[in-house]
Amino acid sequence: MTVVADTKVGEVRLELSDISVNFGGVKALQNVSLQARAGQVTGLIGPNGAGKSTLLAVASGIQRPNSGTVRLEDQDVTGARPQVYAHARMARTFQAPQLVPDLDVRQHLVLALRSNDHKPGSALKSAFGKRITTDEFEKTEQLLAELGLAEVAANGASELPLGTRRLVEVAQCLACDSRTLLLDEPTAGLSRAETAVFSDLVVRVCHDRNIAVVIVEHDIDLVLDISSRVFVLDFGQLIDEGDPGHIRSSKKVQAAYLGTMEADLDV
Ligand SMILES: Nc1ncnc2c1ncn2[C@@H]1O[C@H](COP(=O)(O)OP(=O)(O)O)[C@@H](O)[C@H]1O
Ligand SMILES: [Mg+2]
Repeated sequence: MTVVADTKVGEVRLELSDISVNFGGVKALQNVSLQARAGQVTGLIGPNGAGKSTLLAVASGIQRPNSGTVRLEDQDVTGARPQVYAHARMARTFQAPQLVPDLDVRQHLVLALRSNDHKPGSALKSAFGKRITTDEFEKTEQLLAELGLAEVAANGASELPLGTRRLVEVAQCLACDSRTLLLDEPTAGLSRAETAVFSDLVVRVCHDRNIAVVIVEHDIDLVLDISSRVFVLDFGQLIDEGDPGHIRSSKKVQAAYLGTMEADLDV
């Protein structure tokens, strides 16, 4: 396991300050601030259309904010190209896993190891001219074991159930040595058992590797179970933040969810 020794648990890795994003007349985000800390899971919740995915897009350099700043690893990266974010060891997963159907699980991890811009899948074409080296084999062995993927190492990505494909994506982020990991609705479409495996694993790698994890989830109970701190968006604004106990009893949060869905809040 690659424990990153040069950062302390609890230090701020990602700091979004006063972020605003407008899409034409739509104020998708208004003055939103969020911090994500090393070795902690940070939850981001809010009803549909609240701005969660837009905030992750800003945090990963895909969406440039109209105002506000993004600091990553104590560096101002506002407006920089996504590659700069990747070099600052930021990675994100997408709701639909971005895997290559013809490659097996180990090959996906080798791809990630060989990518030099820390974006899973980006080394694509060049990667398979070369044989897998002993060093690469050992690194992938270790990752496969860590994520419980050893048994499917030789299976093609397209044969795998969705829950396993999501784990492969996380394994790719770890192969890139990512230290800040953004997960947008990673348990959408997973069975209860797959969700349990996935969330246990996220918590474990977050702690073992001192990674700052930001998770956007529809499943509020899951977020409240695994997060140290939770941020709540509604109509593009941060309406509350705090530890799970605070969020569970927040009247503002309950009001935001009323009428949008049967509130999953277990209060
Ligand atoms: N590319 C875009 N162009 C125009 N409007 C957008 C775009 N992306 C998001 N929006 C709007 O911004 C708001 C926030 O969307 P989003 O961040 O996807 O919310 P969430 O992830 O919380 O469901 C919504 O009103 C959505 O319709
Ligand atoms: Mg979304």
